[in-house]
Amino acid sequence: MALSVKNLNFFYGSNQALFDINLTAEAGDILVLLGPSGAGKSTLIRTLNLLEVPKSGLLDIANSRFDLSENTDPKKIRELRQNVGMVFQQYNLWPHFTVMENLIEAPMKILGLDENGAKTQALELLTRLRLKEHAERFPLQLSGGQQQRVAIARALMMKPQVLLFDEPTAALDPEITAQIVSIIQELQQTGIIQVIVTHEVSVARKVATKVIYMEQGRIIESGDADCFEQPKTEQFKQYLSHSE
Ligand SMILES: Nc1ncnc2c1ncn2[C@@H]1O[C@H](COP(=O)(O)OP(=O)(O)O)[C@@H](O)[C@H]1O
Ligand SMILES: [Mg+2]
Repeated sequence: MALSVKNLNFFYGSNQALFDINLTAEAGDILVLLGPSGAGKSTLIRTLNLLEVPKSGLLDIANSRFDLSENTDPKKIRELRQNVGMVFQQYNLWPHFTVMENLIEAPMKILGLDENGAKTQALELLTRLRLKEHAERFPLQLSGGQQQRVAIARALMMKPQVLLFDEPTAALDPEITAQIVSIIQELQQTGIIQVIVTHEVSVARKVATKVIYMEQGRIIESGDADCFEQPKTEQFKQYLSHSE
């Protein structure tokens, strides 16, 4: 199980937003994307499940390969989305569904699980994420941190090989952020690949096995977690010194 992006270029209309992006990750990696606002972090993470389709490049993810300079088969994109989960800053839960209904909807519809099987799996996850007593509540009856954990549980119901997080702790207070950090660390043990956009360097330092620092659509620096201690570029060094 691995993730690889080669020579990826992405445009919004005629504006190029990502330039010649290259990255790799292996099972158990937590790849953190850092950079100032507008650097292209959200755009990049959205290209990994083809919510945004690049103009060119090679994407290897969840045992599928996409040559992005060719037309992509919609069926292959649907398969990709089943194996690559996504958690956003806005939790995107269905407000008129209970927590349990939010969790079992996709696995029943898309994977064809029966209701009992889906509920059993959901209860296991809700227990693991300390949410079991909230199963029958509606999202808006929960705190932000609880909603974010439900969003993570919902993504995990599909047993993804890769899990993408865009600013998962941005709206959360420090105690809840710490809970999300420990969930991310626990998930690492399962061998899943996690890609995380954050502007919180303290969160990045706690979880990253690999780091990518971007500016203006380009990767400026990439490396292992030790690049927090020994940044190779002046830009990343500057960024770190302003964020702490
Ligand atoms: N839907 C869009 N249409 C056109 N331009 C966009 C869109 N989304 C983002 N951009 C532009 O792409 C660049 C990268 O944005 P984004 O990926 O959101 O950066 P980040 O997540 O690092 O803050 C920015 O210049 C932004 O204005
Ligand atoms: Mg963003």
